Amino acid sequence: MNKYNVYIIILIVVFIFSACQFKKEEKKKSNSYETTIQTKSISLKFDSKIDSIISLMTLEEKVAMLHGNSMFTSSGVERLGIPELKMTDGPLGIREELHRDSWAALGSTNDFATFFPAGGGLSATWNSELAEIYGKSIGAEARARNKDILLAPAINIVRTPLCGRTFEYFSEDPFLNKSMAVPYIKGVQSQDVGVCVKHFAVNNQETNRGTVDVLMSERTLREIYLPAFKAAVINANAYTVMGAYNKFRGDYLCENKYLLNTILRDEWDFKGIVISDWAAVHSTVKSLKNGLDIEMGTITDFDNYYLAKPLLDSLAAGKIDKQTIDKKVKRILRVMYNLKSIDSTGRAKGSINTKGHLTNAYKIASESIILLKNSENILPINTSKINSITVIGDNATRKHAAGGFGAGVKTKTEITPLEGLKNSLPKEIEINYAQGYKEIYEDDDKSKTYGRKISNKIDTALIDEAVQAAKKSDITVIFAGSNRSVESEATDRENLNLPFGQDELIKKVTEVNPNTIVVIIAAAPFNLKEVEKSTSALLWSWFNGSEAGNALADVIIGKVNPSGKLPWTIPVNLSDSPAHATNSFPGSETVEYKEGILVGYRWFDTKNIKPLYPFGYGLSYTNFEYSNLKTDKQEYSMDEIIKVEFILKNTGTKDGKEIAQLYVSAPESTVVKATKELKGFKKVFVKKGNAKTVTISIPAKELAYYNENKKQWVVEPGTYIIKLGTSSKNIKSNVTINIK
Ligand code: BGC
Repeated sequence: MNKYNVYIIILIVVFIFSACQFKKEEKKKSNSYETTIQTKSISLKFDSKIDSIISLMTLEEKVAMLHGNSMFTSSGVERLGIPELKMTDGPLGIREELHRDSWAALGSTNDFATFFPAGGGLSATWNSELAEIYGKSIGAEARARNKDILLAPAINIVRTPLCGRTFEYFSEDPFLNKSMAVPYIKGVQSQDVGVCVKHFAVNNQETNRGTVDVLMSERTLREIYLPAFKAAVINANAYTVMGAYNKFRGDYLCENKYLLNTILRDEWDFKGIVISDWAAVHSTVKSLKNGLDIEMGTITDFDNYYLAKPLLDSLAAGKIDKQTIDKKVKRILRVMYNLKSIDSTGRAKGSINTKGHLTNAYKIASESIILLKNSENILPINTSKINSITVIGDNATRKHAAGGFGAGVKTKTEITPLEGLKNSLPKEIEINYAQGYKEIYEDDDKSKTYGRKISNKIDTALIDEAVQAAKKSDITVIFAGSNRSVESEATDRENLNLPFGQDELIKKVTEVNPNTIVVIIAAAPFNLKEVEKSTSALLWSWFNGSEAGNALADVIIGKVNPSGKLPWTIPVNLSDSPAHATNSFPGSETVEYKEGILVGYRWFDTKNIKPLYPFGYGLSYTNFEYSNLKTDKQEYSMDEIIKVEFILKNTGTKDGKEIAQLYVSAPESTVVKATKELKGFKKVFVKKGNAKTVTISIPAKELAYYNENKKQWVVEPGTYIIKLGTSSKNIKSNVTINIK
């Protein structure tokens, strides 16, 4: 062989090696929910050290680690250098410090935290990078407050628009849900804080949440309710999972062998800890055997928790063996070592209330705001053409960091919409304010912060005052919607009505001033039929964090071009929504999810029901045009990646971001399928007048359905139609592929 041949061979080897590497990288990035953070699986490298520690522990010390010893900690073993495991709520920001043995606030002065947008808002950004930034920021705040476990994200599927916790949850769609959950979790855990993904599982209503037995087909469970939890465990390596309050197929979730042992441990190979929701445990032996590791509670009789003294008694009676206890303790210590909470060398220190976190909260809030209607192009306000503005609405001045039942955040900064407008508008513009409506409940019990019956009474004097104020100014902005008492944990809403006479207020104000913008601040679907008729300019914002008002004002004046899209469907009528159309909400002892896999837009599309605003919908101040949709091939095998490509052009007059969505239909399927299912999306920034070539990858395995007979995910061979749309309803073009 001459020298020349040797060079050629080396070149070929290098080429093949690089091509393989490239393919591997491509495979890694093939899901849109992959992130820049390397997945850190729970390392087993401490296991032998842990075994020797366990051998030094007494049975009492071990059992002490398996239950709460205060409202938000479980015991350590001081003599062996094991600290307590410190937990904190939760989705909106790091909760203020409470007494160890009561729910009362400690009243500290050093427990302020950044208020981050609630789950619905984050999800409406459809921006996985922002989900990672969110996770990193809230994780850093948890660390700065010396916490180990963040009781978040809350990723239950939005099954009914009435669910009181819709504001915390991400979406009605399993793909969007996991696409936001994975980067969020990786972000948090990159800060040496573990997430507690909640509430596992099928906890989709607050009515009877402590007792209701949830029933559904296996396919529905696998395709709709579990994918985000599965991705949290497998793709993001979530360190802990929270067992929910309700039952599934007859067994409470914290003692549910099928979900905790069969699926979570055996199928998904979960190495972390299962922590109960607070007071969600109902047994000692059954919970322990069926997968629970730590019991947390709401009462302060810590020694009598099921996994405290009753567990010692069960051990003494031989009802449970010591190896089971050791297994649980080992899992806890493993998580603690991974979080560097035992040997804290090199543990992230975190940071809290920083300018950077406020900037991140602002970025998330400003990308979450949705433009629902702008038929007369009133938005954005041209500030050089107006002299006065009337701001109306209780929500113009209301703060949402706290309220209702459950976790809130004590924050130093929460900019209200009125303050935001004052910050953004030129000083020459006169701003007037009228409250317009106020909360009126049927009972007078002001100590109750949630679950109060909303009165039909309207304060007409407030409406009159608002109408007079609206007449006098060039532009009116009404901040309407709901609040944290109307939407709250522990209760579902009774109906979709906008409370406190807001329909009438909006109608009357728009009659006297057609230059009226309505901003709905809420985090679950409401009936907007009347509002939609009254106004030509409609925005949607959320319980949107410390910078909510600044972000909203910047959208209103056009400094920010709105780019959020709905993470769920807004129906015309409640009875159009699947759980209500099938009369299967809320159930009583049991609730059967009769709509099966047809949750959210899957139902509306398949049954041809027109929603008021569809899933994935949201406008912009600019226009986008789609063209040249194609795939890299026509035929794929089941383990290949379908590369979809198209051109996105910004044909309007403003730079902007568009969320391009890929839905897939399976016309030849032999099983019932939704008309279309979201399988990919990308948020893309395009400068005005420019065009970008966009690529979105769909692994062919994402097209699988769950075959109940085979107990397997199956990709059926045949034709699939890939639909490129701006929402689930507005499809711009199709391309057909074939699966071998
Ligand atoms: C909620 C959980 C929360 C826990 C602790 C429960 O009522 O369901 O989401 O983390 O309380 O506050």
